[in-house]
Amino acid sequence: MSKSDLTAAEAIRTRRSIKSFKSDPIPEPILQELLSLMQDAPSSWNFQPTRVVLIRSKEQKEALAAAAWGQKQILEAPVTFVFAVSIRGWEKHMDEILKTGVSSGAWPQKFADWIRENAPGFQKGLGDKQREYAIKDAMIMATTLAIAAESKGYSNCYINGWDEAKVKEIIGAKDDANVAIALVLPIGVASNHPKHPGRLSPSKTIFTDRLPSPAV
Ligand SMILES: Cc1cc2nc3c(=O)[nH]c(=O)nc-3n(C[C@H](O)[C@H](O)[C@H](O)COP(=O)(O)O)c2cc1C
Repeated sequence: MSKSDLTAAEAIRTRRSIKSFKSDPIPEPILQELLSLMQDAPSSWNFQPTRVVLIRSKEQKEALAAAAWGQKQILEAPVTFVFAVSIRGWEKHMDEILKTGVSSGAWPQKFADWIRENAPGFQKGLGDKQREYAIKDAMIMATTLAIAAESKGYSNCYINGWDEAKVKEIIGAKDDANVAIALVLPIGVASNHPKHPGRLSPSKTIFTDRLPSPAV
């Protein structure tokens, strides 16, 4: 962390959805630090289903912007992150993940054995919801990156407006049923700083112990 970095609270307060970026690049050391911070995001069972593709070339930006109904933030930002997931990636990586957890001293062998015993059944029991669970992990990683970037003066815009089949094709996962797209996140230097559009009053969104019934 450098002295000029915003605190997490400052980054959260400063962040706005940026619709227009300057052409300034993200210096490579900062980009590498952001990737490292992003990779520290947690995931369910530590199964790490998120697969991140950095879109940097002009032709890939143009294709992605077209798949996102022409949203120009993607064309302007020096880097746009596509957060995809490998829904069943854990099947291939579980052994390595458990081994690392044990060898790092974080997990007793017993805990790793418990995960090996229970996680596959839990995951399979999710059925179609395995996709949703993987997407939750990807959204947490994307949010981690967005706040980290903001703390270093790089703005961003969460983007959900795109055609999933087209985005999959652009990143090389056409027709791969194991891959789903969670989010697109352009990052760069904002060319303006929009005003805060406001939030509902906390009395409508934050409750103690129970939701009002019916929830609205
Ligand atoms: C999951 C998600 C998806 C969004 N998708 C888009 C999008 O496709 N295009 C866009 O311009 N803004 C998008 N936004 C930005 C929201 O419109 C914005 O967060 C909201 O209006 C509040 O403004 P603020 O982010 O500046 O506080 C998205 C935000 C979130 C959290």
